[in-house]
Amino acid sequence: MNNFINKIVSLCKRRGFIFQSSEIYSGFGSCYDFGSLGIELKNNIKQSWWENMVQNRENIVGLDASILMSPKVWQASGHLTAGFADELVECKKCHKRFKKDELKENKCPECKGSLTESRKFNLMMKTFVGPVEDKAATTYLRAETCQGIYVNFLNVLNSMRLKIPFGIAQIGKAFRNEITTGNFIFRLREFEQMEMQFFIKPGQNKKWFEYWKEQRMKWYYDLGIKKQNLRAVEISKKDRAHYAQRQVDIEYKFPFGWKEIEGIHDRGDWDLFNHSKFSNKDLSYEKYIPHIIETSVGVDRSFFAFLCEAYQEIKGGRTKTTKAVKEAEVVLRLDKRLAPIKVAVLPLVKNKPKVVKKAKQVFDLLKPYFMCQYDEIGSIGRRYRRQDEIGTPFCLTIDFGTLEKQDVTIRDRNTMKQKRVKIKDLVEVLKQDLENVSKNHA
Ligand code: GAP
Repeated sequence: MNNFINKIVSLCKRRGFIFQSSEIYSGFGSCYDFGSLGIELKNNIKQSWWENMVQNRENIVGLDASILMSPKVWQASGHLTAGFADELVECKKCHKRFKKDELKENKCPECKGSLTESRKFNLMMKTFVGPVEDKAATTYLRAETCQGIYVNFLNVLNSMRLKIPFGIAQIGKAFRNEITTGNFIFRLREFEQMEMQFFIKPGQNKKWFEYWKEQRMKWYYDLGIKKQNLRAVEISKKDRAHYAQRQVDIEYKFPFGWKEIEGIHDRGDWDLFNHSKFSNKDLSYEKYIPHIIETSVGVDRSFFAFLCEAYQEIKGGRTKTTKAVKEAEVVLRLDKRLAPIKVAVLPLVKNKPKVVKKAKQVFDLLKPYFMCQYDEIGSIGRRYRRQDEIGTPFCLTIDFGTLEKQDVTIRDRNTMKQKRVKIKDLVEVLKQDLENVSKNHA
């Protein structure tokens, strides 16, 4: 892994963003756990997506379908056939498997052994439901969340009294038995998707496709992804997903190259047509089968992209209030809406009971409004750096002046500028400063 990624992985572990799954048992392939700060960042990404895709729109509604579904769903969707399989070869010597299309030469990249002929390897994860491990009870962990949306098309349409065009959005886990893994949380076997299925009248595909592509690009820009690090790539017919008649991948420029973080798919009538056929239920609307434009983001991949984008190392340091300034300092310039902790409350000294008491009062005052952290350990410079490293937009310092004047210092993560604010005004000032997104990405 490259050096930059190593630094991100190390920060994630050290500061409680991401841990390897089952680490005390030497880990478990391509599964990761989100720590106390990771879950905050992840929730904020999901929240931002939900606000953008559901709350702020009049024609998109939410859903939370179950992960386990009838195995017939996966027959209808085409996921049990060759369309959802990787072409794999196996090394005859070390028995490792590789994706055929990722191999540069005809020998094993690990031990140079010779390779078998390729064969298809389905990515669905099989599981058994009920007490008997027989064929009738076999189903699959969902490989994409959207199938739960299609099978609920009629339920949602009728219960929410919707008219086409309209969308159904869902966030949830998906599972794939990926063969090539690596690059930290980029390719996982258990991951989360944020998917929106937009049901349209046939013939309006191009218009809505362009609309959603643009909307989705804007979402990333608005949350701080720089234009030069994001691109939309038209996928040629031979490389498209089996259900897509058109596909654009939104790619982020990761330190290991341009990689897909979201897919925009024109699924045509593939899904509702097949589910109608397999279920024998009429899924048409005003005598036609609606077409679907889909937007599908990986939560984990966008999390990774936001982290890479925000991570900045400043050689020699920028904080001048500590002696340890010679080390490189890390600032995570996350958008304020994404930052796991919004406000840190720091008593200037920890051995003066009155200052500590006041700091705890300020912490209690702010807790109901913002995700806050209280920290009294180490020099104030070190504490600022700890907060910069996890992307906290504001640090409040409580000092002797606070006791006299009932005010605190607010320090801005990006500019390091400080201002004094009365405690009675704190909640309002912080609310405003956190909403002031235009200066977020300084
Ligand atoms: N319903 C459409 C669909 O699932 P996809 O391109 O296969 O389309 C959509 O997946 C997004 O889900 C990807 O752009 C990626 O962000 C995320 N994703 C897919 N497989 C993943 C994996 N193994 N690990 C992490 N994220 C994954």
